[in-house]
Amino acid sequence: MSFSISFGPLSAADHEAVAKLLHRSLVQWYESRLRQGAKFGDSHEPFLLFPEVYEALDPGEAVTARDTQTGEVLGVCFSHERETHVAIGIVATAPEAGGRGIAKQMMAAVLEKARNLGKPARLVSSLLNLDSFSLYTRLGFAPGAIFQDMLITVPEDGMTSPEPTGSTRVREARSDEAESIADFEHSQQGIRREKDFAFFLQNKVGSWRVLVSEREDGSLNGFLAMSTHPSFSMIGPGVAADEEMAAALLWRALDGLRGKTLVFLLPCAAANLVRTAYSWGARNVELHVAQSTAPVSSAQGIVFPTFMPETA
Ligand SMILES: CC(C)(COP(=O)(O)OP(=O)(O)OC[C@H]1O[C@@H](n2cnc3c(N)ncnc32)[C@H](O)[C@@H]1OP(=O)(O)O)[C@@H](O)C(=O)NCCC(=O)NCCS
Repeated sequence: MSFSISFGPLSAADHEAVAKLLHRSLVQWYESRLRQGAKFGDSHEPFLLFPEVYEALDPGEAVTARDTQTGEVLGVCFSHERETHVAIGIVATAPEAGGRGIAKQMMAAVLEKARNLGKPARLVSSLLNLDSFSLYTRLGFAPGAIFQDMLITVPEDGMTSPEPTGSTRVREARSDEAESIADFEHSQQGIRREKDFAFFLQNKVGSWRVLVSEREDGSLNGFLAMSTHPSFSMIGPGVAADEEMAAALLWRALDGLRGKTLVFLLPCAAANLVRTAYSWGARNVELHVAQSTAPVSSAQGIVFPTFMPETA
């Protein structure tokens, strides 16, 4: 089997092929290694959201590996160039084409692009998946903060636990706040990606909601975005100045997602916040680690990573 790797736009026909590839590769990998294939469902249709959102957000920035004879998509990897870095995700290879260097070559193409731009690359990697963890560390990524993936079902009538202190300072983001959200994240985490926040706030592809929290003087001390699309219910990305503010943002986000079962990621090191999430009924389902080719050593605050658009 020979294949070629290239950056390029995804056609409507590619969306279907990419969704099937993502679904098939995840089901096969998690079922064969962990007996957890069922968690990705039995249909590829929810995965159509990935190519749809990514083609709208970063048109032409998908890397695909295609069979040189049939043109069939054998691998996909999405890249997202931002002010401070290039984010990467999700990466997948068709099960029957695995182990032949496809993921490595797709990643190498994105890393070359990042190098040419003079920017580090960042992604979120599962700690249960040694294949992808090793793929990234072999290519020069260094692991950083560890996150626990927590699953929760929000009661139909809303959160039963009392509202945390600080939640009165949480409000819906205004449509013109992408810049101040990006500035706040930059001040805490040393990364900037205004494009993502503008995309969420425009809310034209997918279904997004963004909360912000503010200090007495009106300046931001946290934000929390979430995907509320039926195909992909997940809280993040977000950053809060401290655990108390993070708990307030998370409580408000969950209370707005009544009756839904969803995942959010919390830094394992944020022990109080993690205990609070347990007290709300959240259960650990996986572990992830932030990986970067140049970690930001001065990063501060509490981060909520997400898988779309993948960030940490
Ligand atoms: C993870 C995945 C993308 C790998 O794709 P692939 O095309 O089979 O990977 P490659 O053939 O390019 O090999 C990856 C590299 O990792 C290395 N590797 C894999 N497991 C390893 C281990 N346990 N220790 C060290 N290196 C390892 C391989 O040896 C190879 O490096 P090499 O060529 O220098 O030997 C694929 O299994 C997949 O699609 N999984 C399901 C989707 C998924 O989980 N994606 C990751 C989301 S974070």
